[in-house]
Amino acid sequence: MFEQAITTTKIIHVNRLSPQDMDKLIFYAGGENACPCVIADRHPLPPRDAMLEGLRKLRPVEIQNNVFPDPKTDDIMSMVHAVRDKPVNVIIGIGGGSSLDAAKGMATVLSNGGDLNDYLGPMPSRKIEKRDVKLILIPTTAGTGSEVTKVGVYTSRSGRKYTLGHPLIQADTAVLVTEYVETLPPALTASTAFDALSHALETIWNKNACPLTDRVAVDSAVHILQWMECAYDSSLSGAKEGRAEMLEGACMAGTAFNMTGTAAVHALSFVLSEEWHVPHGVACAFTLEDVFRLNLANAETRQRLVRIAEKLFADDNDDALIHSLLNRIVALKKKFGLPFTFGDLHINLSADQIGSLFYKSLDDPKMKNNIVPIDTKTVYKLISNKL
Ligand SMILES: NC(=O)c1ccc[n+]([C@@H]2O[C@H](COP(=O)([O-])OP(=O)(O)OC[C@H]3O[C@@H](n4cnc5c(N)ncnc54)[C@H](O)[C@@H]3O)[C@@H](O)[C@H]2O)c1
Ligand SMILES: [Fe+2]
Repeated sequence: MFEQAITTTKIIHVNRLSPQDMDKLIFYAGGENACPCVIADRHPLPPRDAMLEGLRKLRPVEIQNNVFPDPKTDDIMSMVHAVRDKPVNVIIGIGGGSSLDAAKGMATVLSNGGDLNDYLGPMPSRKIEKRDVKLILIPTTAGTGSEVTKVGVYTSRSGRKYTLGHPLIQADTAVLVTEYVETLPPALTASTAFDALSHALETIWNKNACPLTDRVAVDSAVHILQWMECAYDSSLSGAKEGRAEMLEGACMAGTAFNMTGTAAVHALSFVLSEEWHVPHGVACAFTLEDVFRLNLANAETRQRLVRIAEKLFADDNDDALIHSLLNRIVALKKKFGLPFTFGDLHINLSADQIGSLFYKSLDDPKMKNNIVPIDTKTVYKLISNKL
């Protein structure tokens, strides 16, 4: 647990990031002859784009943007090949979790060689042994917490989504820039908020949980539940309230699950993203209330959930508190337009397809982190209830 609790990432939170600030960060990371490469997705984000334009006037910057949701290893390798012959010593990921994970993947392969696919899956042919480049991560969504975690998530050549975890993947510096999330549209605000909430809750119903992880997870769950509706309302009205708080909440929840890993919600979400390209946060929201109910069977988990509820509701007994907490999650899902059934996702699934599609989630190490053991019967019951 000692090793897991150590974080190497310096976290900076600012309202705006000027080209001069970015230039300074690059200098501190890479020295006088720093050679930076920025990894960003292609979605226009005016404050980020203006910052990068200004930065290019101050120093040469390589910019790679072959990043799409649930990043594919081949796309990341194309960016590795584009910069391989350059003396890149600072990688800067600016974007949603997909851009940050792509940046982590690039830093890993540039330092250790080979192909990103070689590092994935249950029997990887390569190991991460070092990191020769500095890594600065700047989120533009408030959900994944990837800026502070030691994992990257990649869609392999086989189409399976794998989590690659190693302390050497973790960023040196995370910069939370409020301005970058102030215009996050409603659907992304909703899905990424549920990703962050599921990170906090999955840290709680986790076999690797301990008092330290509990504290961070309970605090981040309370913080996220206090602010997510306000951030969503802001996304509808064009206001800014709740944005900085959600950016911080997602980062806190990232710090929490970085110590335990995630659990059943995430293991099941990967199938939805692999098979039907359901966005990550939507896929996590899909089973959140079901896995919540399932994990109430564990007394310690139940007590931790009561501790969250006590900070949010005035009920005077544990059953009522749990009921209020679960109702609140379900109400937020409804308000945010997130799916409860396969019909809501416009997916046609029959009961006899559940095994071939969803039982593979049982091989995912994340499923084994779930505090209540999950087998084929449980998966069948949980998924068939959503048909
Ligand atoms: N490494 C980790 O610790 C970790 C944790 C959770 C999830 N993930 C992974 O992260 C990915 C999901 O990341 P995500 O949910 O942040 O979304 P994303 O990075 O996949 O981006 C989704 C879409 O949002 C757009 N976008 C990003 N920022 C925007 C902004 N400010 N305004 C408007 N549009 C914007 C992107 O261009 C993209 O089209 C998945 O692959 C998931 O598995 C990683
Ligand atoms: Fe997640």
